[in-house]
Amino acid sequence: MMESPAATARRPLLLLLAALCLRPGLGLYTVNAVYGDTIVMPCRQEIPADLMFGKWKYETANDSPVFIAFRSSTKKNVQYDDVPEYKDRLSLSENYTLSIRNARISDEKRFVCMLVTVDNVFEEPTIVKVFKRPSQPEIIHPANFLETEKLKMLGECIARESYPEGNITWYKNGNILQPMEGVVVMSLQKIVDQSSGLFTTSSSLQYKPTKKDAKAQFSCRVTYYGPAGQETIPSQPVVFDIHYPTEKVTIKVLSQRNMIKEGDNITLKCSGNGNPPPQEFLFYIPGEREAIRSSDTYIMTDVRRNATGEYKCSLIDGSKEDSTNITIHYLDLSLTPSGEVTKQIGEALLVSCTIASSTKATVLWLKDNTRMQTSPTFSSLQYQDAGNYICETAQQEVEGLKKRKTLSLTVEGKPQIKITKKTESNKSKTIICHVEGFPKPAVQWTITGSGSIINKTEESKYVNGRFSSKIVISPEENVTLTCIAENQLERTVTSMNVSAISIPEYDEPDDRNGYNREKVNDQAKLIVGIVVGLLLAALVAGIVYWVYMKRSKPLPRTVSHFLNPPLNSHSPNLCPQSDVSGKSEKAAAQNFQTLLRTASKHVAKDLGNTEENKKLEENNHKSEA
Ligand SMILES: *[C@@H]1O[C@H](CO)[C@@H](O)[C@H](O)[C@H]1NC(C)=O
Ligand SMILES: *[C@@H]1O[C@H](CO)[C@@H](O)[C@H](O)[C@H]1NC(C)=O
Ligand SMILES: *[C@@H]1O[C@H](CO)[C@@H](O)[C@H](O)[C@H]1NC(C)=O
Ligand SMILES: *[C@@H]1O[C@H](CO)[C@@H](O)[C@H](O)[C@H]1NC(C)=O
Ligand SMILES: *[C@@H]1O[C@H](CO)[C@@H](O)[C@H](O)[C@H]1NC(C)=O
Ligand SMILES: *[C@@H]1O[C@H](CO)[C@@H](O)[C@H](O)[C@H]1NC(C)=O
Ligand SMILES: *[C@@H]1O[C@H](CO)[C@@H](O)[C@H](O)[C@H]1NC(C)=O
Repeated sequence: MMESPAATARRPLLLLLAALCLRPGLGLYTVNAVYGDTIVMPCRQEIPADLMFGKWKYETANDSPVFIAFRSSTKKNVQYDDVPEYKDRLSLSENYTLSIRNARISDEKRFVCMLVTVDNVFEEPTIVKVFKRPSQPEIIHPANFLETEKLKMLGECIARESYPEGNITWYKNGNILQPMEGVVVMSLQKIVDQSSGLFTTSSSLQYKPTKKDAKAQFSCRVTYYGPAGQETIPSQPVVFDIHYPTEKVTIKVLSQRNMIKEGDNITLKCSGNGNPPPQEFLFYIPGEREAIRSSDTYIMTDVRRNATGEYKCSLIDGSKEDSTNITIHYLDLSLTPSGEVTKQIGEALLVSCTIASSTKATVLWLKDNTRMQTSPTFSSLQYQDAGNYICETAQQEVEGLKKRKTLSLTVEGKPQIKITKKTESNKSKTIICHVEGFPKPAVQWTITGSGSIINKTEESKYVNGRFSSKIVISPEENVTLTCIAENQLERTVTSMNVSAISIPEYDEPDDRNGYNREKVNDQAKLIVGIVVGLLLAALVAGIVYWVYMKRSKPLPRTVSHFLNPPLNSHSPNLCPQSDVSGKSEKAAAQNFQTLLRTASKHVAKDLGNTEENKKLEENNHKSEA
């Protein structure tokens, strides 16, 4: 029963092994059998022709040999001795080959084949060797984790039921682990099962890891002798969690932005490089006397500038700390005055917008949402200065840091009135009341006589504290018009005498102060008209005087009769009906002077008091003279 080594390698354990060899030195024939298989032992003797029978026996060290099988050559029958150990396991073939089924460890014996003739006995011994391959080794009771700097039981490698006994070796990442005092400690144990005779081999490993062992694969192998020599079976590798202490703590600031500003939330995160990472830390917060024990994050909401400073964290035992500096940016803006501010026209107002900022900041001014080129200053407030002023500042480097404040400026003023008059035609006169003031004055008109309030026919737009109210009238008689402008501050009343439409009249200039050149020119024309009118009046007076003088001398009656009635009817004041006498002569002269005076007064009144007009008046008097 010879088999090729290749076949042996293919089925090394299940097969009946018949690799027969003569052990050198011993010179004994050996049969290697696999545990549980059938042991086949040829007799290895030339069968003699006169063979009577053949027998198999085994020998024990001290006791006498034990016969187990017999075959008669002549009777061709087989007998098996009553040996309990071999009951029902033996089979002796015709050529005296003995087969033992279900090989056991106890079958490792020296068997002898005996061929007996009439005159001789031939004996040929055979040694039986039994092999049992161990189970695949496994690592039992593996440690949950290992710790650096600590020698700890890593686990136990066990290979069960082998024969002969196996040997266990440990490997890390495929490299054999050599024992090393205090670092690698192995202890091998072997247990023999008394009934089967099989060995169970185990090796416990104590190991002191380093951080590098974090992902190391630990395995073990069992080395054993098989029928074909030494063989090994590896275990499944096992990776262990290696615990190591934190050597470095790191603090980090988590924020939405690079630059932190007031009102932001800050999250501090601490981490340690140990395994497992530390879960708790001590946080040292500026302004806090005692360290705060917290999880790995510490949150601060709505931070203020006083949170600027150095932040630290350490392990809870106070060791291994890290720190970071945090700057909380801020921006203050103060505007004085601010809010609702009411000032009187003409007053001075100092406006100041000052900022305090952690970094460079820009300031800009807006008036009624329009950007101003300069900051506002008022030496004398005007109505157009009223409005909404905004001082706005922003930090360039810190996103979202902006401040603004508003000044709502109201410029108040008592009503100021100025009335102008314009004769539209012979039928109507336009009177305009120019009003200035804030809050907007209410305008009322009154007229003498009736005293009733005249409706404002037209009111112009109220711009920069000014507007005007215009009425058109056609007075049948001389009237005094009064324009009343009233606001919360004051009631202002201004009157103007307007003569009846029947009386030709010059218009007053629109602007009392005579700033308007064009209107002054108009006045000049007017004055010329008046002067001509006065000259005509003087001429009439002259004629009257001449007639009077003529009448003091004898005159044809018809002439005087002709002259008197029209004068009486048309101009009773100028020429009162009187007797022709010295008295009357004097009265006429007085009347003439009154007329002149009235005319010149009229000029003075209507032209106002400006220098220009005075000169004109003077000229007028000269030309009169
Ligand atoms: C003896 O006989 C068995 C079967 O009976 C056979 O398998 C074996 O090869 C024989 N052995 C020898 C040495 O002839
Ligand atoms: C078992 O290992 C020990 C120590 O390494 C060695 O001395 C022995 O020869 C080995 N035995 C086997 C069967 O490998
Ligand atoms: C800060 O956190 C609070 C709540 O924790 C939240 O209401 C607030 O909106 C956060 N502020 C910012 C600027 O994210
Ligand atoms: C910072 O100032 C605020 C008030 O602005 C105060 O409530 C807080 O306690 C201060 N914090 C520290 C750490 O001084
Ligand atoms: C003034 O207006 C009122 C109604 O508002 C009207 O009854 C009245 O006749 C008007 N008076 C004049 C003089 O226009
Ligand atoms: C208007 O005329 C009256 C007399 O009729 C006079 O008393 C008054 O001062 C005049 N008013 C103005 C504003 O000229
Ligand atoms: C009306 O005023 C004019 C001057 O504006 C004057 O000459 C006239 O006498 C006045 N009439 C009455 C009735 O007062």
